[in-house]
Amino acid sequence: MRDLDTQSITAEVLRRMEGMPGARLRNILASLTEHLHAFARDVDLTEEEWLQGIAFLTRTGHACDDRRQEFILLSDVLGLSQLVVSKAHRRIKGATEQTVFGPFHVKDAPERPHGYDISEAAPGQRLIVETRVETASGDPVTGALVEVWHADTHGTYDTQNPDWTPQRVRFRGNFRTGLDGRIRFRTIMPVSYPIPMDGPVGDYMRATRRSPYRPAHLHFRVEHAGFSTLVTHAFDELDPHLDDDAVFGVLNSTICRFEPNGGGMRLCNRLVLAPRPDTPADQG
Ligand code: BEZ
Ligand code: FE
Repeated sequence: MRDLDTQSITAEVLRRMEGMPGARLRNILASLTEHLHAFARDVDLTEEEWLQGIAFLTRTGHACDDRRQEFILLSDVLGLSQLVVSKAHRRIKGATEQTVFGPFHVKDAPERPHGYDISEAAPGQRLIVETRVETASGDPVTGALVEVWHADTHGTYDTQNPDWTPQRVRFRGNFRTGLDGRIRFRTIMPVSYPIPMDGPVGDYMRATRRSPYRPAHLHFRVEHAGFSTLVTHAFDELDPHLDDDAVFGVLNSTICRFEPNGGGMRLCNRLVLAPRPDTPADQG
């Protein structure tokens, strides 16, 4: 075919992929081609704009290393990460909603006893957290691994410190639920903080006049053999950034009340697990 034009080129690219093995990948690449071509036609993309897009993606790649993933951050701020998470974990009545993971989880953080201060006595407003892990019918889930992590009072995670090592954890810890389905720990109040803004994603956020802030939150990951693993947040219901979270992680079931408690604060939240997709609903 030698008389390609701005319309017929799409079908020609798809035709050349017809011999490709693997129906799933072929479908993905074909759909990507169709949407990209439609996009270029739709916005009447100029050569200069196409080159600017290429330069932006190139800078995004260069901003990645083994500690920073600018492409995932880009996916997060475009809402793609939360969309894919929500598609993979359909809403189950009563269950806590699944949210974006974020880049600051650490595998195999130390397991801590209930009552442990994961801030390691850092200055800040004291917070006591009591989290109950339960089934959709309210039964406690015993023996679940609950991983918790959050940022310090500057909105920085321990892993963002250039001389961080796995031995120097702060503001994170793993806990096991007891017979009552609960874990308890101490820390300091989280604050709202901006996502990393010193790379191309920052340029995008400034260009679009979007707020770079994430409302104050704790991260939770809950794992138990009988249930779907839950990755979620607990957001402070009073945070002014609740409705413009830079990465779209705020969902109804993730909004929590942090209450005054003596001179500090207290959070009592429930994390409701969904059954594994291949098991009957609600096992204890
Ligand atoms: C976070 O809350 O840790 C986070 C999530 C997505 C992008 C950046 C930060
Ligand atoms: Fe966070």
